Amino acid sequence: MKTYITTAIPYVNGAPHLGHAEDYLLADIYSRYMTMRGNEVRFQVGTDEHGNKIEKKANELNIEIKDYVDQNSQKFRNFIEKLGVKYTDFIRTTDEAHVARVQKVWEKLKDHIYKSDYEGWYCEGCERFITDNEYKETDGVCPDHQKPYTKLSESNYYFRLADFKDEIRQKIELDKLRILPEFRKNEVLKLLADAPDVSISRPTSHLKWGVPVPGDDSQVMYVWMDALSNYITVLGYPDQDISDFWPATVQVVGKDILRFHAILWPAILLGLGLPLPKTLLCHGFILSNGQKMSKSIGNVVDPIEVLDKHGLDAFRYYFSRHIDTFVDSDFTWDKYENAYNNELANDYGNLVQRLSNLCNKNDIDRAFLDSHSVYSSIKLDDKYCALMDKFEFTNAIEYAWKKIQDVNRHIEETKPWSVAKENPDEAKELLATLAGELLNANELLKPFLPAAERVSEIFSAEKIEPPKVPLFPKTLAN
Ligand code: MSP
Repeated sequence: MKTYITTAIPYVNGAPHLGHAEDYLLADIYSRYMTMRGNEVRFQVGTDEHGNKIEKKANELNIEIKDYVDQNSQKFRNFIEKLGVKYTDFIRTTDEAHVARVQKVWEKLKDHIYKSDYEGWYCEGCERFITDNEYKETDGVCPDHQKPYTKLSESNYYFRLADFKDEIRQKIELDKLRILPEFRKNEVLKLLADAPDVSISRPTSHLKWGVPVPGDDSQVMYVWMDALSNYITVLGYPDQDISDFWPATVQVVGKDILRFHAILWPAILLGLGLPLPKTLLCHGFILSNGQKMSKSIGNVVDPIEVLDKHGLDAFRYYFSRHIDTFVDSDFTWDKYENAYNNELANDYGNLVQRLSNLCNKNDIDRAFLDSHSVYSSIKLDDKYCALMDKFEFTNAIEYAWKKIQDVNRHIEETKPWSVAKENPDEAKELLATLAGELLNANELLKPFLPAAERVSEIFSAEKIEPPKVPLFPKTLAN
């Protein structure tokens, strides 16, 4: 089956922070899993490069906007690669092909676009128009960005959301556009009921850094109109037939931008006569010591520092197991160190070291394990697949980890080193069983931990040798 997985494209008004890792890791875990199950995966990542806040930041720094976005886009690309993310497509909204295609998208939506005047509020942090009700409820200050809204009085093009509201509501209610987790669905339905038509352009007198509106030099497109379209322009729409990969199997987004993906985006797609994505997977926020990461609080965690501390597997392990797939979760250095030393190094790293060593000492090689059908019986079990299919990644790795702990317990209980002294043949049989258990548990870890591939190699080498340096050297005495 063909599978298309997308991630939100971050604004390039700064370097990546720890929170940005969440989109990529969730998408990458699913992508690796779907590939293991024999699917052909297309996996988009990219950068969102237009809009007010980028224009403003580059101006503040006195840098050419294009140079500024080039530099920051590259930082995101490096970061994504450092996370071991196996994407297939990287899109930048300043790519010529994207700009030309998004203009064609605009033309195709013409029947649903009208011109009007806007007089109201705008949040630059969210790049969002704020309704009067929201303004009142928040006392004029954006709760996400802690900044007062700015007053706008301008002429804009509007997209007639009203044309599609009923259809979107039905699709969400019937799970034809599935929103996960379930509790987010009701939030979206409430927002949808009150959603006004959407302003989809800005006058160039207020914003220059955007995609020109076709046929009107005085307007550029609203950044969300431009950014959302990336999911299909990257596949070649409308120049190419995209039906092989569209609709997307899953689109991964953070909770702050679900509203754009569950309301404006479906409306654009319906306006284009395209099917809606099958699932919107909405994750929570990564907090630092229980609080939102913010420069003014001084609790921003640099993801590169975290990656460099114990390597990629430790990073991916923590994010999969200790950052819940669906709700806000905390990062602290203490928790990170603890997870690395007491779980990854103890449960998994030591197990690999110990068992490969026992195999080595007892002359267990590839041929022996093969003759005991160890490799041919490796499979992803149904319970695990059910969790992965529901995108319950934290539960799936938890399940895999229990199996790793089971192998540790079986070694302790059966004591192959003692058996070897009395009955070497029996010890070999026992070790083949234990190696089989480890390789089965290890298989379940592959979407999460690149090290799992290495473990497979260790146990399928002609001669099994323990790693010279442990996979996860301990850093604390305990
Ligand atoms: N440019 C838009 C997305 C356009 S998609 C067509 C945007 N950019 S962003 O840089 O602000 O956010 C990018 C992604 O990072 C979003 O999914 C957002 O939810 C996520 N996160 C930003 N901070 C986060 C945390 N602290 N924790 C987890 N994810 C967070 O929005």
